[in-house]
Amino acid sequence: MTLHHTLQATDGRARAGTLHTAHGEVPTPVFMPVGTAGTVKAMTADAVRATGARMILGNTYHLMLRPGAERVGRLGGLHRMVDWDGPILTDSGGFQVMSLAKLRKMDRDGVTFRSHVDGSKHRLTPERSIEIQHLLDADVTMCLDECIPFPATEEEAARAMRMSMLWAARCREAFVPREGYGLFGIVQGGVFPELRAESVRALTEIGFEGYAVGGLAVGEGQEIMFQTLDITTPLLPADKAHYLMGVGTPSDLIGGVRRGIDMFDCVMPTRSGRTARAYTSRGVMNMRNARFADDATTLDPECNCPACTRHTRAYLHHLFRAEEMLGPMLLTWHNIRYYQRLMERLRAAILAGRFEDEAARIEAGWEAGAA
Ligand code: GUN
Ligand code: ZN
Repeated sequence: MTLHHTLQATDGRARAGTLHTAHGEVPTPVFMPVGTAGTVKAMTADAVRATGARMILGNTYHLMLRPGAERVGRLGGLHRMVDWDGPILTDSGGFQVMSLAKLRKMDRDGVTFRSHVDGSKHRLTPERSIEIQHLLDADVTMCLDECIPFPATEEEAARAMRMSMLWAARCREAFVPREGYGLFGIVQGGVFPELRAESVRALTEIGFEGYAVGGLAVGEGQEIMFQTLDITTPLLPADKAHYLMGVGTPSDLIGGVRRGIDMFDCVMPTRSGRTARAYTSRGVMNMRNARFADDATTLDPECNCPACTRHTRAYLHHLFRAEEMLGPMLLTWHNIRYYQRLMERLRAAILAGRFEDEAARIEAGWEAGAA
């Protein structure tokens, strides 16, 4: 059987399920730490596992440029290269080309661009993106798409979405099915309900092992993002996984789960960890702040990560002030653990039929800390 998703419980529109992959089962809702260039930055694979993370994300764009997709293939694939025996989802490259590459030239067949690393010229087509993701050995392969910035006109959103749907059909053709592996389509259409509906119709007609909602968290703000989810996720096939790409804050995750999302990825816990921002049960804290210099308490008393069980806020503050690399390492670990614990709590609450209670309890903790 190809990669698939089963449901254990629903509570309102929130879902608790299991993603069945070639590299094991993943309880959903799931947050996938981002391992862009073959590493979850500042973390060994053992450390990532110890946070409770079950699935990670890799990037076609970065890995095709360095060390090269064929080379990763010769090294036995991404799992072997990075020492991650759990499932891996790879993004298709389109989004990163638009945000990182230089001198992009998009045409109906694909996109040509210059590498942000060394200026060399490269081309991605739907077929080549799928071929690269096969070489990487991704459990979940994503379709090549075009994600437009916000704001965009309805004409521009329609053009990009329709081209992405043509590319999705070509990705489906190019994808080689294997036991436990799957291809996800990506819904586009900006903030326009009719375009989102048209995109879902086009993708469900082709048929995918899962459905992603793309083109969000690109500057529209949480309220518009939630409105777009409200009109999109109810249209997605209920028996397939729903993945919200590139999202988000802990509050975004609760709102996404509430609206029927099963999978998330975001650089936020890792990137924030490297810049001294800690997500905690009492809200966000910047560990560089002078108020932590003599704070001998625990970063987050509800957390069981090494930063919280073995160190003080004052020590974390010192590490960042002294620019010691252990600071980013400990805070990345903590932030990923916080995100995993958040998803574990939401899943348990859905199974117990008390999702809204638990969401309110978590949000009340953030507010208490902010006061
Ligand atoms: N990551 C965040 N948003 C997107 C999107 O719309 N498309 C792709 N491919 N990746 C994303
Ligand atoms: Zn912690």
